Amino acid sequence: RTAEIVVVGSANLDTTARVPRLPTPGETVLGGDTGESVGGKGANQAVAAARLGRRVALVGSVGDDPAGRRIRAALTAQGVQVDHLGSTARSGSGAALIVVDESGENMIVVSPGANSLLTASHVRAARESLARAAAVVCQLEIPEEAVVEAVRLAGGRVILNPSPVRPVPPEVMARVDVLIVNRSELGAIAGAPEPESVDGAAALASGVDGPRAVVVTLGADGALLVERDTRVHVPAVRVPAVVDPTGAGDTFCGALTDALVRGATLDDAVRWAVRAAAFAVTGAGAQSAMPTAAQLETA
Ligand code: RIB
Ligand code: NA
Repeated sequence: RTAEIVVVGSANLDTTARVPRLPTPGETVLGGDTGESVGGKGANQAVAAARLGRRVALVGSVGDDPAGRRIRAALTAQGVQVDHLGSTARSGSGAALIVVDESGENMIVVSPGANSLLTASHVRAARESLARAAAVVCQLEIPEEAVVEAVRLAGGRVILNPSPVRPVPPEVMARVDVLIVNRSELGAIAGAPEPESVDGAAALASGVDGPRAVVVTLGADGALLVERDTRVHVPAVRVPAVVDPTGAGDTFCGALTDALVRGATLDDAVRWAVRAAAFAVTGAGAQSAMPTAAQLETA
């Protein structure tokens, strides 16, 4: 089963508490019960694309611990291939601490653990899958050397979601087909303040060097696709209630890649991704409300 999509990225165990409002620095806020679920931007993007029907592999690193076993089992149950998900005894599995308020805002702290031990040589072990896949997808919760190697070995399209944001080497940017960023990531990548308007985001995105296309996720304003001479603004899809926005951006990335691999145009892929992300916010945790293709088609 050759993977159509190879995701090179993180896998975490998320612990989430609901709070009436997000704490300010130094403040203690009483929240509800905590819940644990599988997350991590790499794992989330892999599961999002797998739920939509793609054959997906995750290249990553978890700890040789109960969290790592739980992550591996959950990914396998979702149909994600884990042959290149390593287990290390040198660190615990990645963990994320998440709070979500009543309006659906969240805050996340990631303790990368085993994710930070993902090396270029580990990525190289998956070179055949990387060369054959129609798309390789990366985020930045893993070491830079792993991202550099993944992009270098990619035979198909390269999708980069530079999150959490940090500088991206120019040789990586030059190989990116679709860069997917939110407003603050776009500001950081462009070396400018976070854009406030859709037009401001379009102007900044058109100045980013390297990628063939930049897609900006804009929350309530939908998403924006900026290519050499085209700009497409896709409005948001209304949802009855935002339960948990965690993983919505990852669902967007997974769904966009799913559509591209099926041969959709980039603007149709952005429309599909906007709809998938809207679905994802209606359930708790990062992965529970990621849609299947049948759900999205009938929604
Ligand atoms: O993007 C959401 C994800 O960020 C969470 O699942 C958490 O693990 C962090 O990686
Ligand atoms: Na969610």
